[in-house]
Amino acid sequence: MNIKKDTKILITGSAGFIGFHLAHNYLLKNYQVVGIDGLTDYYDVKIKKKRHAILKKFKNFKAYEIMLEDSKALNKICLNFKPKIIIHLAAQAGVRYSFENPEVYVKSNLLGFFNILEIARKSNTSHLLLASTSSVYGSNFLTPFNEKDKADLQLSFYAATKKSNESMSHAYSFNYKIPITVLRFFTVYGPWGRPDMALFQFTKSILSDEPIDIYNFGNMKRDFTYIDDLIKSIFLLIDKAPKELGKRKTIYKNDSISNVAPWRIVNIGNSKSVNLIKFIETLEKTLGKKSKKNYIKMQMGDVKETFSNTDLLKELTGFRPNKLLSEGIKEFVKWYLTYFKK
Ligand SMILES: NC(=O)c1ccc[n+]([C@@H]2O[C@H](COP(=O)([O-])OP(=O)(O)OC[C@H]3O[C@@H](n4cnc5c(N)ncnc54)[C@H](O)[C@@H]3O)[C@@H](O)[C@H]2O)c1
Repeated sequence: MNIKKDTKILITGSAGFIGFHLAHNYLLKNYQVVGIDGLTDYYDVKIKKKRHAILKKFKNFKAYEIMLEDSKALNKICLNFKPKIIIHLAAQAGVRYSFENPEVYVKSNLLGFFNILEIARKSNTSHLLLASTSSVYGSNFLTPFNEKDKADLQLSFYAATKKSNESMSHAYSFNYKIPITVLRFFTVYGPWGRPDMALFQFTKSILSDEPIDIYNFGNMKRDFTYIDDLIKSIFLLIDKAPKELGKRKTIYKNDSISNVAPWRIVNIGNSKSVNLIKFIETLEKTLGKKSKKNYIKMQMGDVKETFSNTDLLKELTGFRPNKLLSEGIKEFVKWYLTYFKK
C-alpha cells in the first residue's frame, strides 16, 4: 500500500473476525486507525471484546463501540476524524439467521450502510471499500463466478441486503464521484474466526464428541479463503481506487468497472471449489479424530456451490489468494486449542 502513514483509515466492524485482522495489520504498519463496532450479540461478545482489547493496546488505534444506526454518534466521531479511507465491514452476517431475524439486517446492513455512505460523502473520502459476499451470486450456476456475471437473483435476505449495498454504493459513487470498491468475499476462515461458521462449529463438535450437521447430505462446495490472503488482497486494493471515466489510464482486461462511475466489484476467493466432505476429512486429519455425521437437507437460502474467478484481483494487485486448505485449517486449529486451552 503506497498511501501515506498519516492517512486516516476508518474500519467498521473492527471487533469482528475480519475487521480485527485488518485493523491489526494496519496498526502494525503504523497507520492511524479508527475502529467502530457495536459489539452485537449475534455470537459470543467475549471474543469481540478480546479482539478489541488487543487492538486497543496500540496508540494509533481509537475504538468507538457504537451502532451504525446511531447516525448522531457516528457523525460526531467520523466528521471529526474525516477518514480518507473507509473499509466497511460491520454488518449483520450469516445466511441462516436472516430467516430468524430479518429486521436486524435492514437496520445494520441497509440503514447502517446508508449512514456510512453519508459519512463518505461528507468526509470527501478518497476510497470506500465495502464487504459484499459470494452469496450475491445467488441462483447463478455457471462457475467460477465472475464479477461481470449478472447477479440479480439472491436466495437469502442476507444476500439481498448485500446486493442492495452494492447498488446503493454505485448510486453514491456516480452522483458524488466517490471511488468505491465492492469486495465479494468467499467463505473466509482462520484464527479468531467466527463461532457461527462451519469450521468453528465442526471443530467444537468433533472435540466434544457431538455430531456435526452436514447440509444437503454433503453435496455442497465452498471456496475457502484464508484470512491472511484476504487481508493482503484488501491491503493491495486500497491503492487501486477506481477512476472516473475520463481519467482511466490503465485498461484491465477483466475489469468490472462501471461505465459511468468510479466503482468496481472485485472477488476475493481462493479460486477453488472444495467439497464439504473433503473439507471435513481435512479437519478430521488435523484434529486426529473422526466426526459423527448428521446428514440433513439443504438449508433455506443456501447456495450449493461457491467458486471464485480471481483474475481481476490478480490483474489489479499482482496477487491472488493461494493458501492450501490443509495449512489454513492447521493454523485455525492451533489457535482454537490455545484460545480454549484444550
Ligand atoms: N467471514 C466470511 O466468510 C464472510 C464472507 C462474505 C462476506 N463477509 C462480510 O464481511 C464482513 C465482516 O465479516 P466477519 O466475518 O468479520 O463478521 P463478524 O460478525 O465477525 O464482524 C462484523 C462486526 O460488525 C459488528 N456489527 C454488526 N452490526 C453492526 C451495527 N449495526 N453497528 C455496528 N457494528 C455492527 C459486529 O459486532 C461484528 O463485530 C461482513 O460485512 C460480512 O457480511 C464475511
